[in-house]
Amino acid sequence: MPDTSPTHPSPHTRRQGGPVPPADGGSTLITDIGSLVTNNPDLGAGPLGLLTDAALVLDGGEVAWVGPAADAPAADRRVDAEGRAVIPGFVDSHSHLVFAGDRTAEFNARMSGRPYTAGGIRSTVVATRLADDDTLSANLTTYLTEMLRQGTTTVETKSGYGLTVEEEARALRIAAAHTDEVTYLGAHVVAPEYADDPAGYVDLVTGPMLDACAPHARWVDVFCEQGAFDGDQARAILTAGAARGLIPRVHANQLTEGPGVQLAVELDAASADHCTHLTDADVAALADGTTVATLLPGCEFSTRAVYPDARRLLDAGVTVALSTDCNPGSSFTSSMPFCVAVAVREMGMTPDEALWSATAGGAAALRRTDVGRLTPGAAADVVLLEAPSHVHLAYRPGVPLVRDVWQRGVRVPMAH
Ligand code: NIG
Ligand code: FE
Repeated sequence: MPDTSPTHPSPHTRRQGGPVPPADGGSTLITDIGSLVTNNPDLGAGPLGLLTDAALVLDGGEVAWVGPAADAPAADRRVDAEGRAVIPGFVDSHSHLVFAGDRTAEFNARMSGRPYTAGGIRSTVVATRLADDDTLSANLTTYLTEMLRQGTTTVETKSGYGLTVEEEARALRIAAAHTDEVTYLGAHVVAPEYADDPAGYVDLVTGPMLDACAPHARWVDVFCEQGAFDGDQARAILTAGAARGLIPRVHANQLTEGPGVQLAVELDAASADHCTHLTDADVAALADGTTVATLLPGCEFSTRAVYPDARRLLDAGVTVALSTDCNPGSSFTSSMPFCVAVAVREMGMTPDEALWSATAGGAAALRRTDVGRLTPGAAADVVLLEAPSHVHLAYRPGVPLVRDVWQRGVRVPMAH
């Protein structure tokens, strides 16, 4: 029976990471899967819970059944994977998608030798403030659609290019219309209006701006770095956010060693993101704590910087996630397959580890158990690859291997 599953009317209207959509009118069997990553070690081999000759049944936006193809129950429609690989949808737990303009010239200058300093954030702030709501929404949905077609079914995104009470709240309102994983990053850099009064800006971020933003966000973040916010300021901002029910996550140790990672662990942040410059004490703190280390290979690629050492973290027992950090300055890629390939080639990860970190690892960084794995009861976020194995994501870098995507059981219209 041909696949007649309903497709999204428009991926622009979908909620990335949102609630399960209304029942789509029946179940879908995906069978003859050559290699299936479940990320449930009880279901298959190794940490990926790998099954061969497998099948999946999707029903009501969830995975209803997983097992050997020969034992698969009947469903309302059937998709024959013809021996291809199936993986969980990617979970991109770190992006900055509410912005206007781009920074091509800055990238060009960097590739001619100029270093990345994060000073360019302020030029995106200027462009973002000038843009109307429709422009910001259209930009956001363009990148979410790009992500979805590359297999990303859950996305976190942040404010941080507004830096006034009204602009930060506006960015979060727009983000929250498209995803539940929304992060308040008023503390991205000190707003230009407060250049001579950083303490006054921290008061704003922890006071009126937090009041306006907290209702629209789940997370609070701070860029803890020289030239942005120091450890004391970061602590004040994260603590104030936590007191309003927001869960901390931290931009930590991106450009230099610093207090960010250990602060994240101390405050039980869900994630410390970047983790590029780490001391042994930072690694030990992550290994002893519950904070996930989220590595962002697109950032080092696009800033021509030294990559974080994933091997060191994994060998210490740290939970590692991979994300794009998609933003117009330091990492303008929306592609999780690209990040997987770079992490394997440049950061000491095995293809299996990188796949896990890009799916289950991202879910851990968002404290989600319903996404990032294909096990009964989990969200039916499924990626069918044009490949016999997930290893091809690293083995065939730059090749568009995402053939089909289901988000919450609904088939995504692809560009092809
Ligand atoms: O995660 N490091 C701070 N923020 C972003 C960069 C944002 C920008 O350059 O516009 C990041 O890399
Ligand atoms: Fe970032």
